[in-house]
Amino acid sequence: MTGTVAAEDLDRAQARAELARLAEEIARADRAYHTDDAPVMSDADYDALKARNAAIEARFPDLRRPDSPSGRIGATPAEGFAKVTHAQRMLSLENAFYPEEITEFDGRIRRYLGLGADAPLRYTSEPKIDGLSLSLRYEDGHLVQAATRGDGTVGENVTANARTIDDIPQTLEGAPALLEVRGEVYMSHADFAALNARQTERSDKPFANPRNAAAGSLRQLDAEVTRARPLRFFAYAWGELSEPLAETQMSAIGRLSALGFVTNPLTVLCDGPAEMLARYAEIEQQRATLDYDIDGVVCKVNDLGLQARLGYRSTTPRWAIAQKFPAELAWTRLEAIDIQVGRTGALSPVARLTPVTVGGVVLSNATLHNEDYIAGRDANGTPIRDGKDVREGDWVQVYRAGDVIPKLADVDLSRRPGSAVPFAFPKKCPECGSDAVREAGDSVRRCTGGLICPAQAVEKLKHFVSRAAFDIEGLGARQVEQFYRDGWIAEPSDIFELEARYGPGCLTQLRNREGWGEKSAANLFRAIDEKRRIPLERLIFALGIRHVGEVAAADLARHYGSWEEFAAAVDAAIPAAAAHRAAEKAVAAEQRAAQAGERRAQSAESRRRAWEEAALPEGAKAAWEDLVGIDGIGASVALSLADSFAQSAERASIDRLIGHLDILPPEPRATADSPVAGKTIVFTGSLERMTRAEAKARAEELGARVSGSVSARTDLVVAGPGAGSKARKATELGIETLDEDGWLRLVGDA
Ligand code: IVH
Repeated sequence: MTGTVAAEDLDRAQARAELARLAEEIARADRAYHTDDAPVMSDADYDALKARNAAIEARFPDLRRPDSPSGRIGATPAEGFAKVTHAQRMLSLENAFYPEEITEFDGRIRRYLGLGADAPLRYTSEPKIDGLSLSLRYEDGHLVQAATRGDGTVGENVTANARTIDDIPQTLEGAPALLEVRGEVYMSHADFAALNARQTERSDKPFANPRNAAAGSLRQLDAEVTRARPLRFFAYAWGELSEPLAETQMSAIGRLSALGFVTNPLTVLCDGPAEMLARYAEIEQQRATLDYDIDGVVCKVNDLGLQARLGYRSTTPRWAIAQKFPAELAWTRLEAIDIQVGRTGALSPVARLTPVTVGGVVLSNATLHNEDYIAGRDANGTPIRDGKDVREGDWVQVYRAGDVIPKLADVDLSRRPGSAVPFAFPKKCPECGSDAVREAGDSVRRCTGGLICPAQAVEKLKHFVSRAAFDIEGLGARQVEQFYRDGWIAEPSDIFELEARYGPGCLTQLRNREGWGEKSAANLFRAIDEKRRIPLERLIFALGIRHVGEVAAADLARHYGSWEEFAAAVDAAIPAAAAHRAAEKAVAAEQRAAQAGERRAQSAESRRRAWEEAALPEGAKAAWEDLVGIDGIGASVALSLADSFAQSAERASIDRLIGHLDILPPEPRATADSPVAGKTIVFTGSLERMTRAEAKARAEELGARVSGSVSARTDLVVAGPGAGSKARKATELGIETLDEDGWLRLVGDA
């Protein structure tokens, strides 16, 4: 039997069999130890098994099993759980780091709702628990499903595990027929310390912090392991409901508590920003005495009717905000400054640090933003860090704020080595040698190499296959790098030609590579083929054009409806981009002159003249105005679209890609029976019963497109008092026009 052969001497087939045997034996030992409290082997034997497993995996990394015992600390591989699509998305929260942001939050909500500064508006305030969120679904009072957040849309089914947690009721009395309760799974400090003591005793790696311990314990394939771990649960929100829980956040939480959930006792009502800030300070004081980790305070609009009106942005509710505690800091040495070249050519400096632990996490990199930041000034030339620059060899203070990339807080000049010299930011791209230029008003230096720059090409490809873009199974960042290096793919269209170009030869080569098995190679072509049919918004996002994120891509797709319309519109707008730039330059010059007291600024006039002088071809101006008129699309998106489409090499590469695709039109966001689904609407003039932002959000929710300018494509104009040229144009074009009451009646909100 292979168990007697030394790990170094195993051949591939033996290694595979041995890893299977070890996985089973170690799992058996774990079960015996954790659940039955009846160990079947000594700690030394257990350690020997684990060491042998690790040694074999180190020799044959591609043979590592999904259920590998070496991966069992922390999270079990996600493949192990069934996927659950959330009935209602699980969102995240907007973060605030400074007190002003709370005042701004209140101001923004008042503006959105059209409430005056003095109108009463209450908020709840509660600790932000540092655990992992969980959604519990109850049908007729019975717990039927528990799911982790996952990416917010699809999570993992951890029902069996959740049933082992004491704070989670299995049955409810007097609950709505359908109730999804959401909250945070966490581990108390005392339980965490005890668990880690046990881990150490049996030579298992201790967990870095209670959050990791909670996550690792909940995401165990074997629910019996979870049962042995002391997890707890605070309920603070809900998902799908068959009837409302209450009229306010506070009473809804009270209702959850009455149903048997544990809710956080530090939840209080606040009358406005001043009270919210005072409460934040109190909780920050209490933080050290709590028996669980919190990383901030969450404030929510108390009135659930107002919450419903405020609704959601793409990933966060408008009615809530998380005030985060200041990040922990640590000093370490900055060993080197590296320059990374991104998808849009941006040269990003990265600090390579001597690894240092901050809040239980080891940091070895931090962002340095751009060359001004390194030199010690911000975008306006104002000194930052008292004007201290950053040099290789410096001692620097670093911090982590939330989940974001670590940043630099300070430099210790007293410890600066005599040999340290100011950092010379490269003027050439370190990857392709092309000029790296900085345009006026841009804080970032960019490589001008475009597709000839390997870094840009690879980053574009990685973006292209990423989750929100083409999401091709089996083709991740690592594989893209490998294929690019080997000359198999240089641009997105190559992905769809792989099979035809390299055929079975490609398969054989793949199979022989590290990390590729027989099945994965065959699956790859199938996965690529599946993505030849692609929704328009994903395609637009996947192109990786600067400023065109997921939201802008969806706005563009909804507005134009098809690739042909979209591409034709951008092409038509190209000459206008130059005119726009010239006009804005003229306006800026005008304003400088006005500031110098030379004359009164007549911006509108200069702008008009510049557009006129551009002598644009037929339709260019209209195409441009239509583009920047799309709500959510501004001049910067329009300019970068026009710039990309104007570059012949890039445009040719896009056209080659399109040739391989079957592009699906965007689905109207609507409930199908909405009277405005698929229509283009313009709101103009002042609205009295809702704000402009609210009207737009409501129209989009009903599947309409909202545009800022009236054209032949407009279906409906909603005109309030004071509507001027847009209402006139609508009449000229014979477009249906409604007043605000007419709109509310039409959509059933009257
Ligand atoms: S409310 C729609 N309340 O923070 C928003 N979230 O950063 C629902 N969290 O994913 C969340 N404590 O996992 C809410 N008291 C609290 C919370 C809380 C922790 C987590 C939650 C969420 C994350 C967002």
